[in-house]
Amino acid sequence: MTVGEHRAAHALLRWYADAGVDECIDASPSDFYSWQSEPRSGEAPQIETVKRQRLAPEKADNTPLESISTDEAIRSAEKLAASCQTFEALDAAVRAFEGCPLKTGARSTVFTDGVPGSDLLVIGEAPGRDEDRLGKPFVGRAGQLLDKMLAAIDHSREHNTLISNVIYWRPPANRTPTAVETAVCKPFVDRLIEITEPKAVMIAGGAPLQALLGVTGIMRARGVWREIETSSGLRIPALPVFHPAFLLRQPASKRLAWADLQNLAKRLKER
Ligand code: URA
Repeated sequence: MTVGEHRAAHALLRWYADAGVDECIDASPSDFYSWQSEPRSGEAPQIETVKRQRLAPEKADNTPLESISTDEAIRSAEKLAASCQTFEALDAAVRAFEGCPLKTGARSTVFTDGVPGSDLLVIGEAPGRDEDRLGKPFVGRAGQLLDKMLAAIDHSREHNTLISNVIYWRPPANRTPTAVETAVCKPFVDRLIEITEPKAVMIAGGAPLQALLGVTGIMRARGVWREIETSSGLRIPALPVFHPAFLLRQPASKRLAWADLQNLAKRLKER
């Protein structure tokens, strides 16, 4: 490589980094411009049309195999989730589901970690880079803090806690998941709650608060018990708390988080 080529490559890499590209996700490039959003002719425009390119194993020519609308993706998620009677079936269904556009850009499906059927279910926002790499929720710095928070109330993912998110695929550059992405994953979140039937759900942060309860504003909502009602009518107590990533940025808020943990521990100990 000549000095000029080296400089050009360096400038290109810097440009990518400035644009938010923080890792390579595939050995071969993807043509993102071919994922167009367009209503089908004769139909009223949908909220968003998710046009997914999928390659059948025997096809190598990038021919689009199907085009599904957001409504169809949500209906398909609802049907699939409702058909699952066990945690294992739900886990397999989420991994096989192709209706969430985020899946195309993610390395892993990140569903749960921990012990299904535990008295505590923690629900966070979405996988980040570390979670995408390892295929498990909350394994980065925020996850390490979450583990410490759980340990403070005699809980752990090894023994008596199940951990999940409202989104199962890493959003590009960790952006906030859209309403459509959240709606497509929601039937699986509901079914996870129904199948595992925890005594309490810890809602970690503002995004799951909005997704699960339709409530905005974690600052006011934290520490106040609510109820999650699933589509089949099951009601489970839920406590919104600060997201551990927020606590890493705002350590002064750990005092309030500690009070919330005590509140949670008290409820978990009740018969
Ligand atoms: N933050 C989340 O909300 N979930 C994870 O799995 C990791 C970080």
